[in-house]
Amino acid sequence: MKDASPQTIYLKDYTPFGWQVADVHLTVALAPNATRVKSRIHFVPNPNAPEQEFFLHGEELNLIRAAIDGEEVAPEITPQGLRCKVPSGPFLWESEVEIAPAENFALEGLYMSNGMYCTQCEAEGFRKITYYPDRPDVMATFTVRIEGDEKVKLSNGNPTDSGEGWAEWHDPWPKPAYLFALVAGDLVNHPGEFTTRSGKTVELNIWVRPGDEDKCAFGMEALKASMKWDEEVYGREYDLDIFNIVAVDDFNMGAMENKGLNIFNSSCVLASPETSTDANFERIEAIIAHEYFHNWTGNRITCRDWFQLCLKEGLTVFRDSQFTSDMRSAEVKRISDVIDLRARQFPEDQGPLSHPVRPESFQEINNFYTATVYEKGAEVIGMLKRLVGDEDYAKALDLYFERHDGDAATIEDWLKVFEDATGRDLAQFKRWYSQSGTPHLSVTEDHADGVYTLTFKQHTPPTPGQSEKAPQVLPIAVGLLNPNGDEVVPTTVLEMTEAEQSFSFDGLSSKPVPSILRGFSAPVVLERETAPEEKRFLLAHDTDAFNRWEASRDLARACLYAMITEGAGPDTAWIDALEQVVRDADLDPAFRALMLSLPTQSELVQMLHARGVTPDPDAIYAATEALKNAMAERWSALLPALREESAVTAAYSPDAEQSGKRALGNAVLALQTRLDGGKAAQAQYDAADNMTMQLSALSCLISAGAEETALAAFEAQWKDDRLVMDKWFALQVAATAPENAATRAGALTERADFDWKNPNRFRAVMGSLAMNHAGFHAKDGSGYKLLADWLIRLDEKNPQTTARMCSVFQTWKRYDTQRQALMQAELERIAAKPGLSRDVTEMVTRLLS
Ligand code: PHE
Ligand code: ZN
Repeated sequence: MKDASPQTIYLKDYTPFGWQVADVHLTVALAPNATRVKSRIHFVPNPNAPEQEFFLHGEELNLIRAAIDGEEVAPEITPQGLRCKVPSGPFLWESEVEIAPAENFALEGLYMSNGMYCTQCEAEGFRKITYYPDRPDVMATFTVRIEGDEKVKLSNGNPTDSGEGWAEWHDPWPKPAYLFALVAGDLVNHPGEFTTRSGKTVELNIWVRPGDEDKCAFGMEALKASMKWDEEVYGREYDLDIFNIVAVDDFNMGAMENKGLNIFNSSCVLASPETSTDANFERIEAIIAHEYFHNWTGNRITCRDWFQLCLKEGLTVFRDSQFTSDMRSAEVKRISDVIDLRARQFPEDQGPLSHPVRPESFQEINNFYTATVYEKGAEVIGMLKRLVGDEDYAKALDLYFERHDGDAATIEDWLKVFEDATGRDLAQFKRWYSQSGTPHLSVTEDHADGVYTLTFKQHTPPTPGQSEKAPQVLPIAVGLLNPNGDEVVPTTVLEMTEAEQSFSFDGLSSKPVPSILRGFSAPVVLERETAPEEKRFLLAHDTDAFNRWEASRDLARACLYAMITEGAGPDTAWIDALEQVVRDADLDPAFRALMLSLPTQSELVQMLHARGVTPDPDAIYAATEALKNAMAERWSALLPALREESAVTAAYSPDAEQSGKRALGNAVLALQTRLDGGKAAQAQYDAADNMTMQLSALSCLISAGAEETALAAFEAQWKDDRLVMDKWFALQVAATAPENAATRAGALTERADFDWKNPNRFRAVMGSLAMNHAGFHAKDGSGYKLLADWLIRLDEKNPQTTARMCSVFQTWKRYDTQRQALMQAELERIAAKPGLSRDVTEMVTRLLS
């Protein structure tokens, strides 16, 4: 039984394990309900560790036998593991346990998905496979023998030998147990090959269930591109003879970087034009790169303990975003990343779940695979690079790989490398890792005697456990424009370190227009009241694509604010200024599509809350709808021309150029649908020969309430494709009018194909409900209740996915008292559930505190 009693673990309590593991030999005899795992492990006393009792982690294991140096022993078994008396010198530990993968719905440890065996060990899943010091600073070489009738049997490293009913693998690179993986099943492979720059040939495979072979080609090309990019940009070469990827239907996360054997949620690797959208293709490319890049940033250099999670995740997210920027448009990628950061990380950092990029305590580490650790962690590295410059960044990274290859490292190690490579003192910069919350940055300007001065003030509101905040190091990228639109000062990075600080530019006879925080150079909330004329000026003239987009976003926010709080009409001056950009055929269509997107509901809630207004989801929805209608009406003549311009006639390709055109065309289609009730969308649906066009047409039809025919046709066409049907489930809940969202989600859960134990399907319905902002927050509480009912049910099977979904309640204190009371009641109902998992207990406790 898994131990549910909450126990808090602290970073400050870190102590090394008392032994080192020389090597691990595992024999896994597979059977759905009685898999036997035999381990042989050589332990050697660790001279750098304080004396301690011998404790091995182990959960839900049935111990059959244990022996030390060949002699049977009887260890003391606890819910977390076992304790045993051991010799003072080196010794050989042997154990045999029995586990039941067919009964494992938590998808952690060894489990089954559609008849295949697979594992997930990060963060602490290996302890569900055998007794072991399951902590990332214990690294060992693994030799694995798999016994079973399955056609394909895979583990980490290189294959060494195989025979009838067995296969053996050896991984020469010492690794922590969280990188262990094993897969067995009747799989087929899509093969490939890569020659490294030193001339070594690497065998590549993507393993899938029969029938999915035709969806692997894109992933294979993305893998090769990633391998090449990491050699060219970071000088990192692959280090085994073989690299395997496996697609699994039941998976809690996106994918996992196990050494030489990456395991993917099938939604993050399988792709074809007919079944995947452009957005899917881009995401797949990024995730394949992310997992591959972990081979160096994560595997060769791993984390000393789980508090250092951002050491591998922040850096690897940063690396995959660089990769996407290089493969596609850097500007579009940056804007998309900021939209995502504001939608997911900002609310987290400003609510009850706020935690530093490097947390200092946790109860369940699975609850800390967050937007803060990942995305803010990547922003912190982006700032570091901006501060030291590209050349010094490259020097520091070279030193990092040279100094720490083979280590389980810390954030201190990481920063020291930068200090040594650049001579900088990063003591203050380190606050980005320890201080939680989003800094607010305000700015005033002054112009006298040819000197232009910007004065910045920074302030971080208190967060749970941190009432006092110290000033952070903020790289503020600034450019200055002349009133005629010429740039007089190109992008300059100001380094702010004080709570209040001024920066001057001289030789400016006329007062310039500042473009501040270019490229979103620091993850802060910029508070600057400026005249709409100035924003329209930047929208028209800024040379920085991000700030051009941001100027329009600011105007959209201001417009929606006035509509929501004062009942004002749409800002036609902004709509007209935006039109000039949207119709500019010299601009990248993908950028123009982003210009057309309005602030997300989550962003608007943040803005209203920051200005002391209680957000009313219905009013936010109504204002957003009214604004979109106004845009559609004002541009009624322009829309058909834009769609024509963005039409793609060539054969489908998911590349940046074509997908940018489709993004623009589909953003326009959504506006057109407001005028024609779905005529154009139906025509697009009928003609569609790829999923991007088909799905966006369906989305428009649902919004227009004209989906009946298309929805049935879509189901008939795709009922046998799980990944496409996930889209069908998700879209109906996401795109429907708020008043129908909860009812529709509820009805979908009644269907036989609502396989709620599958995380993708569960998220398709419940995640989409939470995304339908006004629908989820329906005044009668029906959205809250439906979600809570299902979270209570899922927790018995899959605590990790349940806990992660609890975070949709993180903004509950921002709403009116009636909604607050309804959400609080649901959270308390979840908390009161007998036998609630440790994961969900921690989440609801933090949410309610
Ligand atoms: N380490 C994985 C990644 O970032 C994420 C993951 C965490 C997957 C925990 C499974 C479980 O790519
Ligand atoms: Zn990762």
